[in-house]
Parts: sequence; structure tokens; C-alpha cells
Amino acid sequence: MKGKTCVITGATSGIGRAAAVQLGRLGADLILTGRDERKGAALVRRLQRDPVGETAHFIRADLSIQREVHELAVAIRSRCARVDVLINNAGARFDTFQMGPDKVEMTFATNHLSHFLLTLLLHDKLKAARAARVITVASGAHSGASGDFERCFRAETYDRKAAYGNSKLANLMFAYELTLRMKGTKITSNAVDPGGVATNLGRNNGIVSWLRHVGYHALKRKLLSPRKGAETIVFLASSPAVEGVSGKYFFRKMEIESSRISRDEAAAMRLWESSLRLTGMDDLSK
Ligand SMILES: NC(=O)c1ccc[n+]([C@@H]2O[C@H](COP(=O)([O-])OP(=O)(O)OC[C@H]3O[C@@H](n4cnc5c(N)ncnc54)[C@H](OP(=O)(O)O)[C@@H]3O)[C@@H](O)[C@H]2O)c1
Repeated sequence: MKGKTCVITGATSGIGRAAAVQLGRLGADLILTGRDERKGAALVRRLQRDPVGETAHFIRADLSIQREVHELAVAIRSRCARVDVLINNAGARFDTFQMGPDKVEMTFATNHLSHFLLTLLLHDKLKAARAARVITVASGAHSGASGDFERCFRAETYDRKAAYGNSKLANLMFAYELTLRMKGTKITSNAVDPGGVATNLGRNNGIVSWLRHVGYHALKRKLLSPRKGAETIVFLASSPAVEGVSGKYFFRKMEIESSRISRDEAAAMRLWESSLRLTGMDDLSK
């Protein structure tokens, strides 16, 4: 990964942090994001201790706020001539309905819309790479999701499981639709299910909610460490085995099937169009 620039969102904790450490060891130049300056600075210091790590920079941004996503993109653009790998990883769960600052529900704004917007804003930097890889962190939780985005992100019908599952379904639809729109370019787009990982996901909802998540996977004896959880992301970011592979969903470094709804191309196109409207962006040109 020497000489390659990797952008990782949500690098201050859990899976994103572990991916940063592993990609740093492979020699990548890292641009890391999160909301917490202190955690970001500690991560950069940690990466600088590794002998093979190249450059690592932290940029603070709250991705649930579109203005901050724009500012983040400006800061990334000023730091690099191209982006070789973009890892759309940041994510959160919200047990109760919360309206974000842009009048978009917080799960949808943080998990999907932020990455949709960031990818579009970095599109020309991805195009400038020899072969760019966009990796979006989805989840097995997408499998029960309805795809009724209007309904599940409204206050009156909010259900925490449905909201999270549908935000992860949106991650998958975005990854697949990006593949179609990038056909004929050197940009690939894939999605990942990291498995059940012991991270801080859900801690914002209190200890009971967090223990429910960790306990569920621990009881099934399927709880992974962040390092294990990041392995498939690192594989997709760095392995020659997936060069040119696009529009796929990976689990444990293997391609797996996602839900039927996630592969509904008309629904993915509708999500893309509404994401354009909600972010005020123009569509991508090749
Ligand atoms: N853990 C699992 O079992 C599991 C399973 C399937 C999929 N996933 C997915 O894996 C990804 C990483 O989650 P994780 O498990 O590693 O959780 P985590 O330990 O809570 O890490 C989440 C990261 O996202 C960042 N983040 C959250 N909200 C943000 C916002 N509004 N703006 C900017 N950054 C924000 C956090 O930054 P702060 O430090 O500022 O909070 C943190 O760096 C998520 O997309 C999640 O949906 C996780």
C-alpha cells in the first residue's frame, strides 16, 4: 500500500481504528476522520509508533452534519492529489428517533447520507487514482430490512432495529448503484459485513443497549475482535485478488449474497435520486 492514500471514516474507534492500524502497517498514507480530536490525535501517535507506517492525518468532522461533510471533503482534497481507497465505515445506532441538524433522521444521515455525499465530493480524486476502491461497511442487519425508507425514518413509525437495518440496506444499495454508475471507469465499489464485533457501537444509547448488542453475538460465540472485524475491509483495500472486482458484498474475505431487496436496481436508483435531493448534489459524470 506504499504510496496509496486511504481515507477512513469513523477511524477513532472499533473496526475503523483497527483497519487504520492494519493499513498503516502495510505502508498506506492515511487520512482518518472522527468527531473526537483527542481520540484522533491519540490514534495518529499510535500509528507513528509503527515502523512501516507512512503519513497519518486526522481530520475532525461530524458526518451527520452535511456542512461538516463538505468541510471534510475540502480538507481531504487539499491534502492529496488522489484518493486510492475510500472506506465508508463510520456508523451509529439510535434507540430513539432523533432529528439531525439537516432535518434528516440521524441513523440515515450518519450511516448513509454522509457517505453518499462524501463519495460524490471526492469523485474526481478517486478518478485521479490508477484504480480506486470504494469500500462501504454494511451489515448482516440489512437482511430483514424492508426498504421502506420513507416510513422507517419517520418519528411516528420509528423502530431502532428497522432504522439501523434499513440504513445498512441503504449502504448496500449505494455500493451496488455506484458500481453501475462507475462502469467503464477504474473505480470499484464493494460492500462488507464485518460480522458481530466488540466495539463501541450503540454505546451512545447507554450500557444496557450496548450489552444487548455485544451479548447477542457473544452468546452465539460469534463475537469478533475489532482486528478480526477489520480484516475483510483491509483485504478489499489492499489485495490484488480483488483488483477490478466491483458490485459485490463480502464477509470473511468471501463474496456472499445480500438480500433480494438490496439487489432491486429500481429501488437503488430511487434511493440515489432521493439522496441527491437531500444533499443538494448534482449527479456524477463519468
Ligand atoms: N460492531 C458490529 O458488530 C458491526 C456489525 C456490522 C456492521 N458494523 C458497522 O461497522 C461500522 C463501524 O462501527 P463500529 O462497530 O466500529 O462502531 P464504533 O466503535 O462505535 O465506531 C464507530 C465510528 O464511527 C464514528 N462516528 C459515529 N457517528 C459519527 C458521526 N456523526 N460523525 C463522524 N463519525 C461518527 C465514531 O466516531 P466517534 O469516536 O466520534 O464516536 C467511530 O469512529 C459501522 O458502519 C457499523 O454499522 C458494525
